[in-house]
Order: sequence, then C-alpha cells, then structure tokens
Amino acid sequence: MTPGGPARCLPAFRRFCAVARWEKHCCRAEADQKAIESKCQLRPNAVRTQSALVDTPAGLDLDDPALIQRAAGHFATSCAACHGAPGVRQSPVVLGMTPAPPRLEDKVGHWEDKGLFWIVKHGIKYSGMPAWSTQARDDEVWAQVAFLRALPGMTPQAYADLALGGGLGDDHTKAGGQTTAALNGIVANALADCARCHGQDGLGRGQGAFPIIAGQPEAYLYATLRAFGLGMRQSGFMAPPASRYSPEVLGELARHFASQPVQKAAPAGPGTEPPAAAPGRKDLLALGGRLALEGLPARKIPACQSCHGQAGQAKNPFYPYLAGQPEWYLAAHLKLWKLGQRGGTV
Ligand code: HEC
Ligand code: HEC
Ligand code: HEC
Repeated sequence: MTPGGPARCLPAFRRFCAVARWEKHCCRAEADQKAIESKCQLRPNAVRTQSALVDTPAGLDLDDPALIQRAAGHFATSCAACHGAPGVRQSPVVLGMTPAPPRLEDKVGHWEDKGLFWIVKHGIKYSGMPAWSTQARDDEVWAQVAFLRALPGMTPQAYADLALGGGLGDDHTKAGGQTTAALNGIVANALADCARCHGQDGLGRGQGAFPIIAGQPEAYLYATLRAFGLGMRQSGFMAPPASRYSPEVLGELARHFASQPVQKAAPAGPGTEPPAAAPGRKDLLALGGRLALEGLPARKIPACQSCHGQAGQAKNPFYPYLAGQPEWYLAAHLKLWKLGQRGGTV
C-alpha cells in the first residue's frame, strides 16, 4: 500500500490466493514473482490515479472541529481495533495479520486528501481494510478524512474525550491503553454508547457535530434506528450502533431520547450558525421562510411546517421536528433526497 510496499503486499497476495482458491491463476502468478511485485507496486499509484477523479466538495474545511468530532466516535469502534489510536495499542493478533494494519499517525501524511478519501470509501482489496458500509455518504467519508488529518497531533486525552466522552467519568476515558477496555464497558451499556456521540441528553455534545435527537417523537426514533440497522437508511456512522442492540434495547433508547428536554438547544457553533449574511443570503432566507411556512402552491410544494411542527407538537408520530438542527445536517439530508440516496423509515 505504501511506497515500497511489495514486501508487505506479497504475503497478502499469497493469503488471498489460499483463501480465494483461484489456484490456477494464483499458482501462475506466484511462480512469476516479478508479476506479483509489479502488481503490488502499482497499488499506491492505483489509489492516486483513481482518486484523481474524486470531487472535493466546495467549501470543505477539514479543520472544522465539528467535522473531526463527527467521525471520532466511529474511529474508536470501527477503525482503532485494527489501527490503534492515541493511547490505544494494537493487539498482537492484529499485528499478525498480513498485511498488518499500520498505525495511521505515521501514514496519513503520505496521502493527499483525495487519496485518503478513496481508501476510506473503497477499502483496500486483498487486505482487511474494509470499504465504507454505504457508498451513498461521501459527506461521512470526508468527515473521517478530517479526523485522520487531525490524528497525528492528537493527545490520548483529546482522543478519549472526542471519541469516548460525553457522560463518561474520567476513570473510563483515561489515556494509556485503557480505552479498549472502556469501550467494552460502553458497548455493554447502550446508552453510554449513544452518549459518546449524541450526549446523554441527545443534544449532540455542543459543537453541532450531530443531529439533535432530544425530544423527537419516540415512534420516529425507534423506526429510524431500525431503518439504520436494516440498511434502509444510509449512514456508515449509525449502521454499527443501530445494529449492535436488540429491538427491545433500541425501543428503550428511543423512549429515553424522546423524553429528553429540548429547551437548552445546542449553543451556536460551527455547523449550527447560519453563515454570515452573504450577498443573496437575505433573499434565500426569505424564500426558505416562505417554503417552510406557506409552501409554493404554484409549484405544488406544501409548507414544510404542514408536517414538521415544533418539538413536542408532531402532527404525526413519524414526523421529526427540524427547528434547531445543525445547518449541515438539514442541507446534507435535502441533498441526499434530491439524489434519491437518503432512505428512511418508509
Ligand atoms: C479489520 C482491520 C481494519 C479495519 C477495521 C480498518 N482498517 Fe484500515 N487498513 C487495514 C489494513 C490491513 C491496511 C493496510 C493495507 C495494505 O497495506 O495493503 C489498512 C490501511 C489503511 C489506510 C492506508 C494506510 C497506509 O498504509 O498508508 C488508511 C488511511 C486506513 N486503513 C484507514 C482506516 C479507517 C479510517 C478505518 C475505519 C473507518 C479503517 N482503516 C478500518 C485494516 C483495517
Ligand atoms: C459514532 C457516533 C454515533 C454513535 C455511537 C451513535 N450515533 Fe446516532 N447519529 C450519529 C450521526 C453522525 C448521525 C447523523 C446520521 C445521518 O446524517 O444520517 C446520527 C443520527 C442518529 C439518529 C437520526 C436522527 C434524525 O433526526 O433522524 C438517531 C435517532 C440516532 N442517531 C440515535 C442514536 C442512538 C439511539 C445511538 C445509540 C445506540 C446512537 N445514535 C449512536 C452518530 C452516532
Ligand atoms: C407530507 C409531509 C412532509 C412535508 C410537507 C415535508 N416533510 Fe420533511 N419529512 C417528512 C417525514 C415523514 C420525514 C421523516 C422521514 C424518515 O422517516 O426518515 C421527513 C424528514 C425530513 C428531514 C430529515 C430530518 C431528520 O431528522 O433526519 C428534513 C431535513 C426535511 N424533512 C425537510 C423538509 C423540508 C425543508 C420541507 C419543506 C420544503 C419538508 N421536509 C416537508 C415529511 C414531510
């Protein structure tokens, strides 16, 4: 994978042959050491070539703390077991893999943003490196890239707070390799797992990194969790937690978050604040206001508020409220619908 990778790639290729039983093809390939090496050497170039086509979204800011935080909790449960993390060692079992997953702190600097995006979205063939669980959420993959960019300078304490914090005591998040044990404890307690990202109160831990789930209708929350778990709603961040627990536990979590008060809405921060009045912004806000309150009858667009009421006043137990959600979240979901890629409860 890395420049000079054949030495690590070669055993991976052999193992692949053994597993995939492409005997004829592989035996020939194995006999021809040079052919394998050239295949292996091509791989970093392949990433570079393929990723040249990746579109970087306009206005993407990989230093945005909300973007980094959005992906931190996922890193802890879906990447750190293989790659380690600040304060988290790699296990001997993982180091015995061929190729072994490298620690990423030393590696990310070798890649351009687009290359990292490509690797995280598609995974790496013939190795344990998995693809993102849905191919419909480039916004999530970019958040993971933002996290990877922040990783080399991250202290164990900062990592523990970002990825495991939110309602956990200091003793659970202490740096120095205890995070893996802490994670077992967290997963044993489903609410603490959700709280790593959403906060116990469902308000999203104050940076606008997560949607607010406090006070959403219980039926909507439960149906949405099932939809994530069954792959009917697309999210690489939410699929794993929604799949970890039984429907009964998800039901209890839905009840918990539905009963949380909404009043202390997340403080304005990156992602929640409307951008400063740009030229045309006033007109845009006025049009948005009209759409929300009156709709555009001439174009048969109903008012958003005919379905989306205020928190606590759902017109239907399956309709979420939207007021106070971070701007990125609303925008991302409207775009997903436009592309036909959001999925959901129906
Ligand atoms: C099951 C183990 C496993 C998991 C889980 C995993 N990876 Fe990997 N990853 C690997 C392996 C193995 C490689 C090296 C592949 C190679 O060298 O051919 C790798 C390589 C990488 C690389 C390229 C590093 C380099 O060599 O320059 C990046 C970046 C990366 N992984 C990010 C992630 C992220 C982000 C996640 C979580 C979303 C993740 N990985 C989850 C096993 C894993
Ligand atoms: C690793 C971080 C993380 C964890 C852990 C996590 N979530 Fe989420 N959650 C997110 C993100 C990010 C989104 C936004 C997904 C999207 O854009 O579709 C989200 C979305 C949701 C939504 C949809 C909100 C809406 O308005 O439609 C619900 C409900 C939810 N999470 C509940 C939970 C529950 C319950 C748990 C615990 C079992 C949990 N989450 C664990 C990150 C997380
Ligand atoms: C006919 C009823 C209806 C109307 C009108 C409507 N919506 Fe929705 N909207 C829904 C339902 C139902 C959902 C939940 C879908 C699901 O189960 O995932 C939803 C979800 C959403 C979400 C995602 C919320 C979340 O927490 O994930 C956004 C954003 C949204 N609507 C925006 C709008 C906007 C903007 C308008 C007006 C232009 C609008 N909606 C008009 C019924 C409606």
